[in-house]
Formats: sequence, C-alpha cells, structure tokens
Amino acid sequence: MLGRMIDETSNIIGADGYLPGLRLNELPDVLFPFREEDIAARESFRYFDRNKAHLTLADLQQFASYFDKLRTGMDISEEALSLHVIDNVGVVNPASEAPVAYRYGGGNFQARALNEPIGRESLYIQEEMHDAGAVLFFVWKLNFFKEQEMRDRYYRDLMILSGFFGHQCSLLASNRGIKGTVFAGLSPIEFYSVFQGSEDEIPIFAFAIE
Ligand SMILES: Cc1cc2nc3c(=O)[nH]c(=O)nc-3n(C[C@H](O)[C@H](O)[C@H](O)COP(=O)(O)O)c2cc1C
Repeated sequence: MLGRMIDETSNIIGADGYLPGLRLNELPDVLFPFREEDIAARESFRYFDRNKAHLTLADLQQFASYFDKLRTGMDISEEALSLHVIDNVGVVNPASEAPVAYRYGGGNFQARALNEPIGRESLYIQEEMHDAGAVLFFVWKLNFFKEQEMRDRYYRDLMILSGFFGHQCSLLASNRGIKGTVFAGLSPIEFYSVFQGSEDEIPIFAFAIE
C-alpha cells in the first residue's frame, strides 16, 4: 500500500503537467458566477450537526451542475474526473439507509457499491466530517492518465485542480447561504477498502456541507 501511495503521489518538478495552458485566474466569467459579497462572506464552517442539516436535492444538484460546468469548461472529461457525494441525510433518496455514496455522472447521482457500511471510523482523518449533511469529493481515474502517459507527472496538478474545485464549492456555498468547509479529502487507504471497484481511482480533496 505504501509503495502504491508513493507511486501515485509522485511529482516531477518541471514537467509540463496536466492542462499546461490553463490559467485558473483567467477563467471566463460564466465559470465564475460569483459576486464580491460571496468572496467577502466565504468562510469555513465545521461544527456540523446532521439534525440541523437543511440541505435539499436542489442544493446538491446546484453544486453538481456547477462542478460539471467547470469541469467541461476546463476541458476535463467525465471519464477522468467525477464528483462524488456521501449523502448522510438521505437527500438524494429519502428511502435509503444513509449514508449512501453516489457518483455524479450523466447528470444523475448513481449509487456506488460499498464493501462495508460507512461508519464513524470510515474514510476521514477528521471524523467530525461525518456530521455534515453531505460530503462532496473529487475522484480522478488513474487509467485515464496511464493511457495519456501522464502517470508520473499528474499529481501536483490534480491537487491544484481539486483544491480549486473545493474552493469554488466554498464560494457557491457562500452565494447560496450554505455552511461548509474544504478539507483534505478521504484517506486513500479507507477509500480503497470502503468503495468497491475503486482500485483505479484516487480521491483528492472534499467539501463538507451542512
Ligand atoms: C484545498 C484545501 C484543503 C483543506 N484541507 C483542510 C483539512 O484537511 N483540514 C482542515 O481542518 N481544514 C482544511 N482546509 C480548510 C482551511 O484550513 C480553512 O479554509 C482555513 O482555516 C481558512 O479558513 P477560511 O476558509 O474560513 O478562510 C482546507 C482548505 C483548502 C482550500
């Protein structure tokens, strides 16, 4: 496991990297629909309480469709990167036994098969993230990069991009009056043991929302 993690997180300083022409501070306005007030009001919140969560499916869809717009606008395919959600309060399917994990694809939340139920000890270093209404996180498909021969030089850029997506979620939350925080994401070891069929993926950064 350690060898795998070292392999998958190596950087080659000076490599041309993934999306070399992309300038995050030069995105078109349509990908940055925020006001000065959203930026000024944005702040992290992490004292979550599932019982106080008032997240709606419409809120989740708004995060997902903004993420999709950003991903597409930055020329990143859904095959390479997908938004995932851990729904702790049954927002996507009230009849489900929460928490449920979904992959957002083709405009829908598709439940992912798990090896074991998600519990207090699962997934995060900071267990208080389980108190959030939902946790959004960004999953990169490793095979995609192997085929592109980018395997040895992608990690730094994927970190930058995932951190950026987390930050943009934070601005969207500020815009919508929703509380949340960006955090380091899911522990890869936990991710591989909980998520079925995850051998080929790496989760980087997450955004927890009440
Ligand atoms: C990419 C990224 C990753 C972060 N990871 C963590 C984390 O793992 N744990 C944590 O407590 N906070 C994490 N933070 C939150 C920052 O610590 C927090 O944003 C910082 O305290 C600044 O507070 P503010 O968001 O209210 O400005 C992360 C923030 C960003 C942007």
